[in-house]
Amino acid sequence: KILILDFGSQYTQLIARAVREANVYCEIIPYHKSFEFEPGLKGIILSGSPFSVNDENAPDVDIQAFIQKVPVLGVCYGAQLTAKKFGGKVEKSNKREYGRAYIQRTKEDVLFEGMSANSQVWMSHADSIKELPAGFELLAVTESIPVAAFKKISSQETLYAVQFHPEVYHSIEGKKLIRNFLVDICGCAQDWTPAHFITDTVEALKKQIGNKKVIMALSGGVDSTVAATLIHKAIGDNLYGIFVDNGVLRKGEFEQVLKTYKDNLHLNVKGIDAKSKFYGELAGKTDPEEKRKVIGRLFIEVFQEEATKITGIEMLGQGTIYPDVIESISVHGPSVTIKSHHNVGGLPEKMHMGLVEPLRYLFKDEVRRVGRELGIPDELLDRHPFPGPGLAIRILGEITEEKVKLLQEADHRYISGLKEHNLYKTVWQAGAILLPVKSVGVMGDERTYEYTVALRAVTSVDGMTADWAHLPYDFLAHISSDIINNVRGINRVVYDISSKPPATIEWE
Ligand code: XMP
Repeated sequence: KILILDFGSQYTQLIARAVREANVYCEIIPYHKSFEFEPGLKGIILSGSPFSVNDENAPDVDIQAFIQKVPVLGVCYGAQLTAKKFGGKVEKSNKREYGRAYIQRTKEDVLFEGMSANSQVWMSHADSIKELPAGFELLAVTESIPVAAFKKISSQETLYAVQFHPEVYHSIEGKKLIRNFLVDICGCAQDWTPAHFITDTVEALKKQIGNKKVIMALSGGVDSTVAATLIHKAIGDNLYGIFVDNGVLRKGEFEQVLKTYKDNLHLNVKGIDAKSKFYGELAGKTDPEEKRKVIGRLFIEVFQEEATKITGIEMLGQGTIYPDVIESISVHGPSVTIKSHHNVGGLPEKMHMGLVEPLRYLFKDEVRRVGRELGIPDELLDRHPFPGPGLAIRILGEITEEKVKLLQEADHRYISGLKEHNLYKTVWQAGAILLPVKSVGVMGDERTYEYTVALRAVTSVDGMTADWAHLPYDFLAHISSDIINNVRGINRVVYDISSKPPATIEWE
């Protein structure tokens, strides 16, 4: 395995994903956390950072101690820290270097194996390395900086450093460089594959769980489905899945997903129709955060009630993934809560049970790869994200069963249309929103006074930032008439052209 020491860069997770993409397992830990040099540890990568190495409290690690045990690669701040600690000079640049640059190699090295002569890389730094320490050699420069890559001259220790960010998309051959470091320099076997992961995880789950019974909430989402399938592979029907119809799912979703769980994946899962309970308590609630709280609380109630019906439940399964658990270095202080995202995160504290989290160390794309290997149908794996509170936060204002039906129908036509026109996979998330606005229209000779639906579709990588999807006008025209002609109660369709920030993806 590879350890990535995080100095707080926004790109640290990208380093981890690039390493995993090379089929090598890695973990991210805060730079100041101690760790063991276990036999499986093959190398260390030092991340970038918003700090300057010349700051008073600049993050620091004992690189000399590391390289006595394993090869080290410093990236950006990691490179500057290396230069400074071994006696080189790092100073503020006259001009900050951001964006595209082309490296010119000054010496051939295995680190660059297979890369083109003027490889495009991505820079993002305010300080520059002005002088290399004694005992180091220069490997590459760019037009604007004298040190873009270097290494320690030594037959015993291996220490590489690059000023650019090989982990980002715009460093075109960055993945090759990372692969060279992992495989040729650290000697990693590229055996972190979905098939291996499944075999190892199923073995580990058998040991962890033994004969105990596990209960788990299923949502139809990618993470809970893949996690449940893995646990089921390990313990069979000792896994008790619970799938709750909270009344704010998509049209037909409850029945379809339940059928896939049972018929395709052979899971032991119970569907609970709790619609009326949810509608009852949502009645009269208009505040988005209040709606979220009600749904979160009711969900836990329903789930707990089901749990007490099964004797001898001792463990709780969850689809937690790696980005939820990485300890991050907080440089800007605690972040502000914009929306309180409901998921089943409230469950473990309430239930006092042992946790089973087979996806705890996977990134989202790896969860999908594992899911494919497990034979989970594409329509489940490629689903857009769908919020826990479902359509409740897409019906602005008060929720009624009638409004849910209206929105379900409009949403269904929109999403099916995206699929039919091969647009579904080109957007990151899409959905319809029912506005609390009625407007006048005319149909035939009749005047109508009905609701407005807004369509939303965004492109994004992680949901943190997003742009509105530039869907073809022809498609929008088609969906607009499809909805207005077929969904009674809606006489106007608008398209949301706001990016995030400053808007959010959901309207509530
Ligand atoms: P926003 O609206 O914050 O959404 O731009 C970002 C992503 O989070 C989802 N989202 C939620 N997911 N519970 C969830 O499980 C919530 O309360 C919630 N609110 C927003 C949203 O669908 C998008 O994918």
